[in-house]
Amino acid sequence: MRKKVIAGNWKMNMTPTEAAALAERLKNGADTDKSDVIFCVPATDIYAVSQAVKGSNISVGAQNMFFEDNGAYTGEISANMLLDMGVRYVIIGHSERRELFAETNETVNKKVLKAFEKGIVPIMCVGESLVQREKAVTIEWIRMQVKVGLFGVKSDAAKKLIIAYEPIWAIGTGKTATSAQAQEVCSAIRAVLAEIYDADTAEATRVQYGGSVTGANAGELFGQPDIDGGLVGGASLKDDFIKIVNY
Ligand code: 13P
Repeated sequence: MRKKVIAGNWKMNMTPTEAAALAERLKNGADTDKSDVIFCVPATDIYAVSQAVKGSNISVGAQNMFFEDNGAYTGEISANMLLDMGVRYVIIGHSERRELFAETNETVNKKVLKAFEKGIVPIMCVGESLVQREKAVTIEWIRMQVKVGLFGVKSDAAKKLIIAYEPIWAIGTGKTATSAQAQEVCSAIRAVLAEIYDADTAEATRVQYGGSVTGANAGELFGQPDIDGGLVGGASLKDDFIKIVNY
């Protein structure tokens, strides 16, 4: 049985002071027995939020990291820097990073490999655009993102991986994928994992849905057989996040 994993992606919101206050407010209501709960916060907030959630079972994650260990990479943050701050999860290849910061399946792959090398669990994001869905290439596109993103990743690591399926047209739009649409793609992701690895690995890997998840639709989405929780944007900054976690 896969344990659900529900992560808030706070994106570029909250100063450290605001972030600590939000984490304090959200941490008590969230049922961490049923699901693993992660706050993926801006790098500048990691320390403040780690302090705020101390004593709870909530984990703090990052939203990005670079694939080199150190060196002349102005503005980048390494896996060791995150580890030293207690980070054990990192979002890799969010569609906003792919679209706005030129990340590709190849850079995603390098980051995923580096995260595993360092013992950080990547939350690898995949998802199609509206045009791709309309042209009926969603499944092929997602299969390619998963395959290239996981080049060189061994099955033991893949079992710990979290994949977030986030249709781009559902992000921040209030337009959630139907549970059937989300289930179809999450099941296709599991099928490609079975092809790359084996049935055991495909059964172990957790696959989240993300895109306009709210307290009102979380239960229906997370009730699908291949959806193991969610990656939540806007609603993760509100008390609604507690409803999502306790769906
Ligand atoms: P929203 O929940 O705001 O649609 O964002 C989803 C997302 O991008 C999470 O990573």
